Amino acid sequence: MKSMNNIPVLTIDGPSGSGKGTVAQLMAKKLGWHYLDSGAIYRVLAQAAIKHNIDLNDEAKLAEIAHDLDLVFSLENDDLKVLLEGENVSILIRSEQAGNAASKVASLPLVRAALLDRQRDFCQLPGLVTDGRDMGTVVFQHAEYKVFLTASAEVRAERRYKQLKEKGIESNLSALITEISERDDRDSQREVAPLRPASDALVLDSTAMGIEAVFEHVSTLCAEV
Ligand code: DC
Repeated sequence: MKSMNNIPVLTIDGPSGSGKGTVAQLMAKKLGWHYLDSGAIYRVLAQAAIKHNIDLNDEAKLAEIAHDLDLVFSLENDDLKVLLEGENVSILIRSEQAGNAASKVASLPLVRAALLDRQRDFCQLPGLVTDGRDMGTVVFQHAEYKVFLTASAEVRAERRYKQLKEKGIESNLSALITEISERDDRDSQREVAPLRPASDALVLDSTAMGIEAVFEHVSTLCAEV
């Protein structure tokens, strides 16, 4: 059995705006499995650092607060509710600035190490669907089902723009394309757990594919479940 403790895991990795979060949530619902949005953990950590005036380059201090991060996830009407030290930060952590800050703290090896167990604790029966950058390559490298979802930077920025708008967050499309490309570069070029497909991942390019088609491909991959 390839999965951790015989618990099946589906990992969906990919860059920002590839649709991995949407597909992961749909799959978790379909399979009745737990869901881990690993990016939200990095976003909350960055938020905690800003709240406590910790420099986003202070690796030792960030690793320390990562260990003790008071973070609670809950699903409410299909929406992920995120509490940091009891405060609802669900909307705050979704801005592009928060994504950028998350990408910065995520490039620090001690921070990533400090968050490994917290992520692995989500692996509970009957199964786990998880999305991020290194789910299939590092955190759940023994997962049975792995997907790497990508799309062009322009299409991802457009999706992000729509998503942010739906959440009532105003943004600028050309600035988003630049920010997304910068974040891709940082996430792909870092030394530890860079963004890249696992060698055994199903790679899907969703540039010209709707979310329903991606969902169908991933459902077929997990058809035996
Ligand atoms: O998936 P997201 O956009 O919410 O992630 C925010 C940032 O967190 C992303 O730019 C890089 C980092 N991240 C990571 O390094 N590893 C993960 N597994 C998930 C996110």
